Amino acid sequence: MALNESRRQVALLGAGRIGVVHARALAQLRDVELRYVMDVDETRCKALTSTFGGEPATLDEILADTHVSAVIIATPTNTHAELMVTFAREGKAIFCEKPVDIDRERVLSSLRAVEESGVPFALGFMRRYDPTYRRIYERILAGDIGIPEQVTIFNRDVAPPPIDFVRASGGLVRDMTSHDVDLASWLLGEDLCTAFASGSCLIDPRIGQAGDVDSLAVVLTTATGKLVQISESRRSAYGYDQRVEVLGSQGMLQAGNKLESLVLHGGSQGLSSARPLNFFLERYEDAYLFQLRDFFESLEAGRRPAVGVAEARRALFATEAVLESMRTGARADIEQA
Ligand SMILES: NC(=O)c1ccc[n+]([C@@H]2O[C@H](COP(=O)([O-])OP(=O)(O)OC[C@H]3O[C@@H](n4cnc5c(N)ncnc54)[C@H](O)[C@@H]3O)[C@@H](O)[C@H]2O)c1
Repeated sequence: MALNESRRQVALLGAGRIGVVHARALAQLRDVELRYVMDVDETRCKALTSTFGGEPATLDEILADTHVSAVIIATPTNTHAELMVTFAREGKAIFCEKPVDIDRERVLSSLRAVEESGVPFALGFMRRYDPTYRRIYERILAGDIGIPEQVTIFNRDVAPPPIDFVRASGGLVRDMTSHDVDLASWLLGEDLCTAFASGSCLIDPRIGQAGDVDSLAVVLTTATGKLVQISESRRSAYGYDQRVEVLGSQGMLQAGNKLESLVLHGGSQGLSSARPLNFFLERYEDAYLFQLRDFFESLEAGRRPAVGVAEARRALFATEAVLESMRTGARADIEQA
């Protein structure tokens, strides 16, 4: 395949669910070329390259190609830390899916290695790039609700994931709450300081047997006493429920769900609308595209990606405190990054 030297050459690691989402986003970015795809599953790898371009490659081939200046890590969570360290050593910019790892020390040591290498790094907290949440953020900055005081987030998956995923993902808090603490702290413009959380297994006893919870309520505070409430569940009978509200001194901003259709039915029993979109891949389709676009624009502009090492550390410390509070039943202080 002929190389287009004017476009940034990129390697994608992992051709699974989120790998395909990133490949689709890359195909829409004019200045970026998907050069290589690496996946231990050859069939998946070939299916992705035949649809979106690029060549199947090994890790060594990607590392050796000096034309490749950036990598997207979309492999399972337990591979991220090692891949980050390897590519940081080679001086390649890194976009990595969340979470970095399920082990605190591995997260911190790999982030340290990335920081010391000086390579640009972005973590996949794509909610910040969702156009609706971004509009809320901009309107807070514009002063439309005065001083923001409280954030409330509802994050409910349609159905519990397979038990293997529960184990590999590090559980509900690392998988789901990590997104929400990042979103809340970004909207409030403040670091989170304390966490109080209570989790239950109400939906699937196998999740409890795997040492996790499937239902969670969290309250967090910032240093100035601003409040965050997060309600999470692995089940939502009415579709993927993703609502956010920010209360301020002079008003409120609310983001409802994106629905499958805009048609509203009215009848003698009342009004009814379509269900929310069923899955995160559809609900956050725009956000996945805009997050990668921002990553590559930040590389061109020489600016720091919006969700980098510092934000990754903050999310780690907040989720660790949520887990500690669940364990002890007491409010936990969040270590400051
Ligand atoms: N930001 C988000 O909203 C979001 C959404 C989904 C997944 N994720 C994250 O993305 C990562 C991948 O999740 P997924 O749902 O796409 O998983 P997946 O299982 O669908 O895909 C992972 C792919 O990686 C391949 N793979 C496994 N080990 C490998 C290795 N050592 N080298 C190369 N390829 C390997 C597998 O064959 C598979 O094709 C996870 O860390 C997950 O937390 C983030």
